[in-house]
Amino acid sequence: MKRSTTVYLYELAWILPSIAIPAGMLAALAVTMFGAGIHLPSSEGRVDPTRVAQTAPFDAPGIRRTAPGRYEVAMTSQIWSFAPNEVRVPAGSSVTFVATSKDVVHGLLIPKANVNVMLLPGQIARVTARFDRPGEYPFFCHEYCGVAHHTMWGKVIVEANP
Ligand code: CUA
Repeated sequence: MKRSTTVYLYELAWILPSIAIPAGMLAALAVTMFGAGIHLPSSEGRVDPTRVAQTAPFDAPGIRRTAPGRYEVAMTSQIWSFAPNEVRVPAGSSVTFVATSKDVVHGLLIPKANVNVMLLPGQIARVTARFDRPGEYPFFCHEYCGVAHHTMWGKVIVEANP
């Protein structure tokens, strides 16, 4: 009798964590997703890939201020450049990139700002990053898009506040 009780407790010691650990992970996932709003970059809409240059906001690529300390960059990618390929903001700004591709699959990677999205023809990508420290934040195309893929880059210049 004593022996079978020991076996039962031993099994319980494995079964309970095997329930508690996935439950804890699901809870952590729910908190980061719904509480902190952390999720994968997702599609923010569609655009006719043959009419990107005629479709707002991509008909006028560039940066505009949407609120104090907040900016939005309408960005197009095309072989082998970004438009705009230089973005200037004051330190402490929050910048939302709204971007798409005019031709093939590109990517937008800003390693120092934790930005990493695919730019797919026909899809609009939207990602927001904060730029607190003055300096240069290079951005790159990180999807192979042809012979001059490696020349496809630009930079965010974060200027010190006076
Ligand atoms: Cu665009 Cu690689």
